[in-house]
Parts: sequence; structure tokens; C-alpha cells
Amino acid sequence: MTYLPFDLSGKTVVITGGNRGIGLGMAEAVAASNANVVIWGRNAEANASAAAHLEAQGTGSVKSWAVDVAEEEAVVAAMAETEAHFGRIDSCFANAGIGQGANSFAEMSTEIWRKNMSVNMEGAFWTLREAAKSIVNRAKAGDPGGSLVGVASLAAIEGAARNQAYAATKGGLISMLKGIAVEYARYGVRANAILPGWIATDMTEAAQDSDVFASKVIPRVPAKRWGEPADFGGISVYLASDASSYHSGDTFVVDGGYAIF
Ligand SMILES: NC(=O)c1ccc[n+]([C@@H]2O[C@H](COP(=O)([O-])OP(=O)(O)OC[C@H]3O[C@@H](n4cnc5c(N)ncnc54)[C@H](OP(=O)(O)O)[C@@H]3O)[C@@H](O)[C@H]2O)c1
Repeated sequence: MTYLPFDLSGKTVVITGGNRGIGLGMAEAVAASNANVVIWGRNAEANASAAAHLEAQGTGSVKSWAVDVAEEEAVVAAMAETEAHFGRIDSCFANAGIGQGANSFAEMSTEIWRKNMSVNMEGAFWTLREAAKSIVNRAKAGDPGGSLVGVASLAAIEGAARNQAYAATKGGLISMLKGIAVEYARYGVRANAILPGWIATDMTEAAQDSDVFASKVIPRVPAKRWGEPADFGGISVYLASDASSYHSGDTFVVDGGYAIF
């Protein structure tokens, strides 16, 4: 017997922030596993070029929507259009995020707090809620199963000096996913969080250019290198696949061993 749970043919996977960085690394892998892939981002041009690249990866179809996840109405409308276009949603990765810190916690402005909250917390809330609505309605109609995923951060579980607003959004995301995991398990829906370590993307551009970072932080990563968006391919395919049907409420640390060293 051949074991082929990682062929995602017929499944539709939504990835917010899928036009670059970690989201694109995840999208490449699920597209190459033949899923239909939907990417959201604010930049329509970046969406279109990522979608063209993703089309060539597998046999599924690819579609992008220009969505700002910090806008509730935009998220509600885009999820409804996604469901209408593909007829079903199987997995949703709430990955879109920003990281805004301050010089110190004492100097952290309300504006920075709210900015982090609006994209990372509210954006993920609206994205996961709308995906859950679609998936649970399908399950109640007799077709169970689905996977909700949030991209959190090591910042949620390690002290993130000068980044408390960002860290709070990621800790909140993990808590939200655990509640979803318990509530919807009866419909075959699981909910999990991915916690990236130091990953080379636009978000970490300044750190990648920093000599101090290169001499003090990356040498402390047991894998001795920056993580790459492609390092998130395997976990994404696993979580979108039936292989993870009984795996829920978990936190997957993908950090080259940084957190345990
Ligand atoms: N890189 C790391 O070291 C690291 C570590 C831990 C956790 N993470 C988390 O991983 C996730 C992805 O980060 P990344 O490093 O890949 O960042 P990135 O390279 O800066 O990419 C961010 C992605 O999110 C989208 N996005 C940003 N704001 C959005 C909004 N309001 N609405 C819709 N889409 C939006 C961007 O597209 P548009 O600009 O087109 O909107 C882009 O596709 C984030 O949640 C981040 O917190 C990253």
C-alpha cells in the first residue's frame, strides 16, 4: 500500500501574507503538494507575481486577493469570495503580521500597541473566525474536517524586550487557537500554532544587516544559520493534510533549536 497523505489535491488552503516571506514559503510547499492555494496581502502587484510563481508549482489552481487583514469588512468579504470561488475551504493559515517595537517598554506608545494588535491580533481573529465559519458550516452539512493555523512567534514564550506589544499579540494568538481547538474538534477541525525563530525575511532586514546580531545571536542558534521561508514548507503541508487529523492545540517551534539552547 502506498502512503500518500501529503498529496493535497482537492483541498483549498488560504494563506494570509502569502505573497512573500514565511507565507510564500508555506504557499510554495502546499502548491507543490497540489492544493488550491489562496494568498492574501495588501500589495496587489506582489500578490499577482507570487500567484504566477505558485501556479507553476503543482496541479491546483492559485488565486490572490488584495486584503488588509486589519479591516474586518475586507476579511469577511474575501473569505466569502474565496469560499464561493473554490466551493470549500479546508485550511487557513493566519500568517500576515507586522513587528513594531519601541526603544523601551516604558516608552512604548499606544499607537504601537494598537498597530500590532490591529494586524496580528484582530487580523488573525477575523481571518480565523471567518474561516472557521465556512469550515464548520461544511462540517455540519456532513463533510467534516479542516485545519486552522496561526503563525505566532518565539516572542510569545520568551521574554521579548522592547517588543511587548508584538509578543502579546502572539501569546494571544496561541491562546485563541487552543480555544478553537477544543471548540471545533467535534467537527474534525484542528487548530495549531507555528512559532518561528529567527527567519530571514523582510521583517528581519535590519537584524540581518546588524554585525552585533551576526556575532551574538546567530551563533547561538544550534543550527548555526538563519531560518528560511522554505523551512516552513513541511510543517504547512503536514498541517494542511489528513496526516495531522488527530493533532490539535499544539505549538510547533521551528527555530533551528534556538529556544532550547
Ligand atoms: N521573520 C521572522 O523572523 C519571524 C519570527 C517569528 C514570527 N514571525 C511571524 O511570521 C509571520 C510572517 O512574517 P515574515 O517574516 O514572513 O514577514 P514579511 O516578510 O514582512 O511578510 C509579511 C507578509 O504579511 C503581509 N501583511 C502584512 N500586513 C498585512 C495586512 N495588514 N494585511 C494583509 N497582509 C499583510 C505582507 O504582504 P503585504 O505587504 O502585501 O500586505 C507579507 O506578505 C508574521 O506573523 C510574523 O510575526 C516572523
